Amino acid sequence: MRNGAPEAIKMGRVTRIIEVGPRDGLQNEPIPIPTQAKLEFIRELLAAGLREIEATSFVSPKWVPQLGDAAELWPQLPSGGLYSALVPNQKGLERALECGVERIALFTAASDAFTQKNINMSVAESLEVFSEVASAFRTALPKGWIRGYVSTAFECPYAGPVEPRRVVEVAQRLIEIGVDEISVGDTIGVAVPKEVERLTSLLMSEIPAERLAYHFHDTRGTAIANVAQAMNQGVRAFDSSAAGLGGCPYARGAGGNLATEDLVYFLERSGIHTAIDLDRLAHSSRAILESLGRPPSAKAQVATLTSDD
Ligand code: HMG
Ligand code: MG
Repeated sequence: MRNGAPEAIKMGRVTRIIEVGPRDGLQNEPIPIPTQAKLEFIRELLAAGLREIEATSFVSPKWVPQLGDAAELWPQLPSGGLYSALVPNQKGLERALECGVERIALFTAASDAFTQKNINMSVAESLEVFSEVASAFRTALPKGWIRGYVSTAFECPYAGPVEPRRVVEVAQRLIEIGVDEISVGDTIGVAVPKEVERLTSLLMSEIPAERLAYHFHDTRGTAIANVAQAMNQGVRAFDSSAAGLGGCPYARGAGGNLATEDLVYFLERSGIHTAIDLDRLAHSSRAILESLGRPPSAKAQVATLTSDD
């Protein structure tokens, strides 16, 4: 792995949590959130012990207005985090590089119907664009970090069930164009462990486990069971969002992400140390939830906050 990955990750010793709340968690929210409120949210996440944080997206503000302040937010990010940002094209890369972004996430899918709605490209077109973006990024930053998302890995909201082989093909293409890590997305939160088992086996026959992460939305409450399944097969990196915020504006029926609180609770109680303070984390997202006018709903967050009373 390239520089930028924490030592423990290189050694494969820990289960990593990639916090996507400031990006995935907020991108779908209709009420504009001030940049300072986003920064406060990120400061709280750091204080709770999270390190890898997907902070924002350099996508078109016409498509995702909520994250239109990426260039304003980035230079103000607190020190101590390993921050990444979504980049959809060359224009996004230029904007990201101007801000000093060293970790980018490219995002495609296993379904053309979804990529067409999400980024206005077919999967093949997106891979061409991302190949050029990855190569320009490597030229600018040889030691930078690239993640590649494969969304709709189990089902597409527009085209239905997805063949696992197709997910492996797209993931392999992303590896060929130079991504360091694949994040496999259950974008609309439909998967159950049996499907995760099948896909993980196929993926691991081509791609080493340390280059795989899962990104489960928890629309139907199956995300933790899916994490357990993937862990049993050797996957050690999981995306989650504080308070279970999240959803994709271009994926009909996408619910919130797996809540970081639920993931931390599950890991710690299973004897896997996360270095994340669950109590602190449960309080971390309260201000952002208040600005969204929403009560806490992640199970472990509610349980923690209730036990404080
Ligand atoms: P397009 O309309 O085909 O592109 O959008 P375009 O090149 O015609 O550009 C349209 C306008 O946007 C132009 O401005 C461009 O300059 C501007 P105008 O000339 O009209 O004034 N533009 C940009 N501005 C700033 N930054 C940029 C940029 N690019 C173009 N980077 C595009 C194509 C890819 C840009 C658009 O579709 C887009 O931004 N899509 C992003 C959608 C998105 O962010 N979706 C959510 C993230 S994915 C997700 O949530 C799934 C994930 O969580 C995993 C999972 O759950 O499975 C990752
Ligand atoms: Mg997502």
